[in-house]
Amino acid sequence: MSIKRFYPISRLVLGMVLAISLFSCVKDQNFHSNEEVEMYKLADIDLVQPVAMDAIDAAAAELSFALSSTIDKVGVKEAIEYCNLNANDIIKTIAEDYGVEIKRTSLKLRNHSNKPSKDEKLILDFYAKQESLGKACAGEMSKVDGIYKYYYPIYVAENCTQCHGVAGESLNKKAAKKLAALYLNDHAQGYQTGDLRGMWVVTFTK
Ligand code: HEC
Repeated sequence: MSIKRFYPISRLVLGMVLAISLFSCVKDQNFHSNEEVEMYKLADIDLVQPVAMDAIDAAAAELSFALSSTIDKVGVKEAIEYCNLNANDIIKTIAEDYGVEIKRTSLKLRNHSNKPSKDEKLILDFYAKQESLGKACAGEMSKVDGIYKYYYPIYVAENCTQCHGVAGESLNKKAAKKLAALYLNDHAQGYQTGDLRGMWVVTFTK
């Protein structure tokens, strides 16, 4: 697997730090020996970033609308069930409109089929490090096996804590019970507003 990452010039210094850490991770994980980490190609970012951000905005808006209207109509517990059944299909429909693949992933998963791939784990670890330093995370781009991928952080808004917050506080008991029934190993609780929750990944398959 080869991973190339690209950095806008304004973040070249950050890019250099990342390139070094990414390269060492690549070596640690025994990827194919001729990988290279390629720095900075503004033209590629110009092409990929706007489409990726439009697709992410559309998927986030659609999900947010579906969840908040379900909560308003039938309540949080039922909206959890709705999300369990429909979230990935909603995202897939938007992805098809844009001719890309879209996923959400995290270091603390609820649905383990959303687990990160190796390159995604590298970016999630980097985001987690940024968060621990009190720094904001930004969009990142890579080329994995010749395919562009764009990553964008997901932060917790207040309304997310109804389903991702602290059980017995923002996450009410009925909702916590429903989550326990649906997900064996739910690590996606205990969040506060403003926490880093995970990231969007847009893959340019064509
Ligand atoms: C009505 C409850 C509900 C609300 C509100 C909600 N989520 Fe979730 N969230 C879920 C459920 C259920 C899943 C698992 C979906 C699945 O099984 O595919 C999930 C999955 C996720 C995932 C995918 C990673 C994983 O752990 O599987 C992310 C990222 C995420 N939510 C972020 C958010 C953010 C950010 C908000 C607020 C903008 C939010 N959620 C609001 C219930 C909710």
